Amino acid sequence: MRVLHVAAEVFPLVKTGGLADVLGALPQALIGQGADVRLVLPGLPAIADAVLDQRPVGEIGPCFGAARVGLRLGRMPDSGVPVYVIDAPLLYRRAGGPYQGPDGDEWADNAERFALLGWVGAHLASGELDPGWRPDVLHAHDWHAAMACAYLEAHPPASAASVFTVHNLAYQGLFPQGDFALLGLGSRFMASTGLEYHQQVSFMKAGLKFADRVTTVSPTYAREIGTAEFGFGLDGVIRGRGADVSGVLNGVDGAVWNPATDTAIAARYAPGKLAGKARCKFALQTELNLAPRADAPLFGVVSRLTSQKGLDLVLGALPGLLERGGQLALQGAGDPALEAAFVAAARANPGAVSVRIGYDEAFAHRLVAGADAILVPSRFEPCGLTQLYGLRYGTLPVVRRVGGLVDTVVDATDEALQADRATGFSFDAATPAALDGALQRAIATYAQPARWKQLMARAMAQDFSWEGAAQKYMALYRDLVSLRNTAD
Ligand code: ADP
Ligand code: GLC
Repeated sequence: MRVLHVAAEVFPLVKTGGLADVLGALPQALIGQGADVRLVLPGLPAIADAVLDQRPVGEIGPCFGAARVGLRLGRMPDSGVPVYVIDAPLLYRRAGGPYQGPDGDEWADNAERFALLGWVGAHLASGELDPGWRPDVLHAHDWHAAMACAYLEAHPPASAASVFTVHNLAYQGLFPQGDFALLGLGSRFMASTGLEYHQQVSFMKAGLKFADRVTTVSPTYAREIGTAEFGFGLDGVIRGRGADVSGVLNGVDGAVWNPATDTAIAARYAPGKLAGKARCKFALQTELNLAPRADAPLFGVVSRLTSQKGLDLVLGALPGLLERGGQLALQGAGDPALEAAFVAAARANPGAVSVRIGYDEAFAHRLVAGADAILVPSRFEPCGLTQLYGLRYGTLPVVRRVGGLVDTVVDATDEALQADRATGFSFDAATPAALDGALQRAIATYAQPARWKQLMARAMAQDFSWEGAAQKYMALYRDLVSLRNTAD
C-alpha cells in the first residue's frame, strides 16, 4: 500500500498545532503497518533547509505566479520518512509562519501557495511528477492540502484514491471568488457542488466534496460536524457525504511524549515510580516563581489562545481556583486580548499564577510533566492532544465534554471511580461556573491523595498509541483500493 500524505506542517520542522504532531507520527505508524509512505510538503525555509539527502525529482516550471517550481525528494531528519519538498522560493521561502506573515496577517497569496501544494500532491498521485513512485492513496490534511482532491477529480488518468482529514473545520481557506481563475479548473468546479461557498472559493470544500472518504480526528467530532452548532456553515456538506464521513482518534507519539524517557523534564517517571513527577512539579514551581508547595494543586495550560480553546472560562473561574489554594501555569500565544488578560492575572497573583506568552516545545514538556492537572475547556475540539499528553504524564485532564475530549477522558463520577475507570474531570456548559464545578471536584479529589493516585494510575494506563489509528487508516485505504479495482 503506497500512501502520499499532503500537508502544510510537520513536527519537528514546522508546527502551529496538533496537525504537525499528527504528520510527525502517523506516517511512521503506517510504515509500521507495512505501508510505503511519503509526504509532500511546501518548501518553507524550516522544511527545505532541514530535509536530508535531497535530490531533484523534476522541474515543474512556472505556475501559480512562481517563475520556477521544482520538486525534490529527501527524508525527514528524525524518522527518515521520505518527503517531497516543493521548491518554490517565491511562494514559500520567506520569514514568518506557514499561513501568516510576521505581522500576524494571512499571506496575501495563500490561494496560490496552497493551490500549488494541492496541485503537486495530485500530480504525484497521478504518477506524472515522479514516475518511479505512484501512490495508491492520496491522503490530504486540512484546507491547506484539500485542493489536491479537486485536482485529482479534474484529472482523468488519476488512479489514486483520496482521503481528506479534517483537523479543524473552523479554518476553511476562503478566498474571493475572483481567485478561482488562478486555480486552472473548469467552471463546473465553481458551483455549490464544488468549491463555491457564498460567492467565495472554499479550499476546505475541495476536500469535503471530492475526496473519496472524509475523516476527522475523533468519532465524536465526526458526529458533531454534521450539526449546525459545530459545522461552521459546512454541516450540510458533511451530512451530504453520509457514511463517507468517519472519525479516527489521534494517538500520542511515544517517542516524543513519554515521561519515562523525556529528556526535556527535570526527572523521569513511570506508573508506580512517581517520585520523578513530584520533582518535576517542584522544578516547575521553582522555575516559575510559584510557591513551592507540594500540597497546592497546580493546574497547567498549553494552548493556542483562541476562542476555540475556551480559555476565557479559565479567567472567569480563576478566583475560585485560587481561593481553594490552587495554582495556575499557562503557556500560550494568540489572541492579544487573551494574552493581555492572562499576563494581568499573573501580575495580580504573584506566586500563584504564572503566564508565559510564546511558543516553546521544551517548556510545554516541563509544564505537562510538572502540573497536577491540565485544563482543556474548549468550545469545540476535533481531537485535542494536550489532554492525551496529560493522561500519559499522569497530569489529570479537566475538560469540557466536547469532540475528542469526550472520547478520551472519563469523568470521575462516583460510578466511574468505583469501577476504576475515571481518568479526569469533565463539564458540560461553556461557562465559568461549569468549569468552576469541575475544578472544585478536582481540588477536593486532590486533597485525597489515595484517590488522586488511583486516577493517575488509570490515566497513565490508557493506551492512545498511533498503532491503533494506523490500523484503522489502513483498513480505510484497503477498502478504497479494492473499490477502485472493482470499478476498473
Ligand atoms: P490544536 O492543534 O487545536 O492547537 P492540539 O491539542 O491538537 O490543539 O495540539 C496542540 C499542540 O501544540 C500540542 O502539541 C501542544 O503541546 C502544542 N502547543 C500549543 N501551544 C503551544 C505553546 N505555546 N508552546 C508549545 N507548544 C504548544
Ligand atoms: C486541530 C484540532 C485539534 C486536533 C489537531 C490534530 O488543530 O484543533 O483538536 O487535535 O488538529 O488533529
